[in-house]
Amino acid sequence: MRATTVFSQLIPLLSVFTSAVLSAGLPKKIHGVNLGSWLVLEAWMLPQEWQDMGGQHCNDCSTCIATEFAFAQAYPKTVDKIFDGHWTTWFNQADVDALVDAGINTVRIPLGYWIIEALVDRRTEFYPRGGLKHLRRGLQQLNKAGIVAILDHHALPGPYLDFLDQLDFFRTRCTSSPQFYTDYNYHRALVWTSIMTVLSHVDPAFANVVSIEAVNEPIMDATQTPGYGDFQKNFVKVIRATEFLLGVPTPGLGSTPAPNNGNFTAMLPQVNQPIFTAEIRAALLEAFPILLQLGVVGLSKKRTQLVTNFMDVNWQYNDPANPADAAIGPQGYDNHLYYVFGGVADANPEAYMRHICNLDRVQNDAALGNSPLWFGEWGLPVQFNTTDDFLRMWGDAQKMAYSKGAGWIFWNFKIEKSELAGDLSREWSYLDGVRNGLLTKDPSKYFNPNVCDPYIGPASSTAPPESSTTPASSSTSDVPASTTTTVSAEPSSAEVSTAVAATPSSSTSA
Ligand SMILES: *[C@@H]1O[C@H](CO)[C@@H](O)[C@H](O)[C@H]1NC(C)=O
Ligand SMILES: *[C@@H]1O[C@H](CO)[C@@H](O)[C@H](O)[C@H]1NC(C)=O
Repeated sequence: MRATTVFSQLIPLLSVFTSAVLSAGLPKKIHGVNLGSWLVLEAWMLPQEWQDMGGQHCNDCSTCIATEFAFAQAYPKTVDKIFDGHWTTWFNQADVDALVDAGINTVRIPLGYWIIEALVDRRTEFYPRGGLKHLRRGLQQLNKAGIVAILDHHALPGPYLDFLDQLDFFRTRCTSSPQFYTDYNYHRALVWTSIMTVLSHVDPAFANVVSIEAVNEPIMDATQTPGYGDFQKNFVKVIRATEFLLGVPTPGLGSTPAPNNGNFTAMLPQVNQPIFTAEIRAALLEAFPILLQLGVVGLSKKRTQLVTNFMDVNWQYNDPANPADAAIGPQGYDNHLYYVFGGVADANPEAYMRHICNLDRVQNDAALGNSPLWFGEWGLPVQFNTTDDFLRMWGDAQKMAYSKGAGWIFWNFKIEKSELAGDLSREWSYLDGVRNGLLTKDPSKYFNPNVCDPYIGPASSTAPPESSTTPASSSTSDVPASTTTTVSAEPSSAEVSTAVAATPSSSTSA
C-alpha cells in the first residue's frame, strides 16, 4: 500500500534527476575518497565526537562501549537520535563542496548490512536505524556535484574480522572470531545485494551509484574464508538476475520477461536462465517484500549494468578463489595498500619510495584477469617521523603507482580535528592533505612528476647493493618485465577499461 503510493509519487520526479549523472560508469581515471566513519562509524577517526555521543575508548573492545554495536546495545532508546546527529554532521553539503573544490570524481561509501533494517535480527543484533535516509540524501548531494559512488559492503552480517581488526579501532562489533563466513550470513549478504541493486536502478536518489563492492577486506588467509568463492559467483549472479528482472539489457540472458513493474514474485516463475538458481531465487523472494516496505519497486531507470566489484585475488593467499571467474558483465577489482601497519617495506623513506615506485600489483593482478584494478584504500601514514617534503613525495609516488591501474580512493575524506585526535588528520585526511599542501590541489597532478625516477629499478643501481642471497632475484626474465593488458572486451565496461601501462621491471619481488 505504502509502496504503491510512494512509487507513483516518484514518477513525476524522474525527468529531473538524470541531468547530473554524466554517464553510467566509473570515470576513466578514479580520483576518489572514502566516506569513512559516516554510515559505518570507526571511533578512532572522531575520538572526541564519539565520547560526546556517549561512546568510550578502551584497549580491549569487550570492556567498554567501543563499537557501534555496543553503543546501540547500551543506549537502546536514544541510539537512533544520536546517530542521526552524527550522520547529519559528519558528511554534508559543506563536505561535498570541499570534494568538488578538490577535483574528486568518485566516492567509496562504506556501509553496514544494518542499513537494510529488515536484515537485522533484533533479538541478538544491535545497530542504529535511519541510515538509509542519510545515504539517499548524501547520494543526491554528490550527484548534483557530478561525483559517482561505489557502495562498499564494509561491515557484513555476523561480524567478521580481518587482520586489521586486531586493532580495536577498526571494529564495528566486538567478537572473538569471524562469523560472516556461514551460509546464513552469505545469504543475508545476497539479499542485501539484491536490495542495493534495486535501489541503485530504481530509486532516483541512487542515480550516481555505479558499482557495488561485495566484501571489504575478507580475511587474507583463504583457508579461513570457506565458501567465499561460491559467494563471489552468487554475488554477481544476484546482481545480474536482479537487473534482468528490472529490464536492464543483460548480454546472454535473452529478453526480459513481460514487465510486471519489478514484481519479483510475479516474474520469477517466468524465468529459467541458469543464473536463477535456487539460492538466487530465494534471495530475490526475500528481497521483494523488503523493497515493498522501502517503497522502491519498479523497472530500472539506468538500463546499464552496475560494475560488480571485489577485492582482488592477490588480496588473499593460500589458494584463493579468483573473482575474475565470477564475472558476468563489467567488473572491477580493489586493492588496499597501507605501509603504516608494517610488512610492506622497511620503515624508512628510501625503502618506501623504492617499493612504491616499483609496485607490481597492477601487472600481477592483470595477469590473473583482475583488471581494471583500483586502489580503494591508501593514505599518507608512515611508520616513522617525517617531514612535509617527504609526505609530498609519498603522496605523488602513490598516486602515480595507483594511476597505472584505474586510479585511487584515499582513506579518508576527513578526520576529526581535536586534541584527542592529535595529529591524525595530517596523514589520514585527504582534504587536510590538500589544505596543508601535502597533496596537489588538482588530483591528476604531481608536485614532482619525476619523483620516482631515482627509485626505479633494482636498489643496487643507485644504492649500496643489498645482500642478495637468492640467485632467483637476478633472473628478471622469469617475470614479464612489463605487461600490457587491457580489460576483457566487454563493451559495456568501456567506462572502466584501463590499459595497464608498461612499467619498469622490478627484479625483486615485493
Ligand atoms: C506481485 O505479484 C504477485 C503474483 O502475481 C501478486 O500476488 C502480488 O500482489 C504482486 N505484488 C504487488 C505489490 O504488486
Ligand atoms: C617521533 O618524534 C617524537 C618527538 O620527537 C618522539 O617522541 C618519537 O619517539 C618519534 N617516533 C619515531 C617512530 O621515531
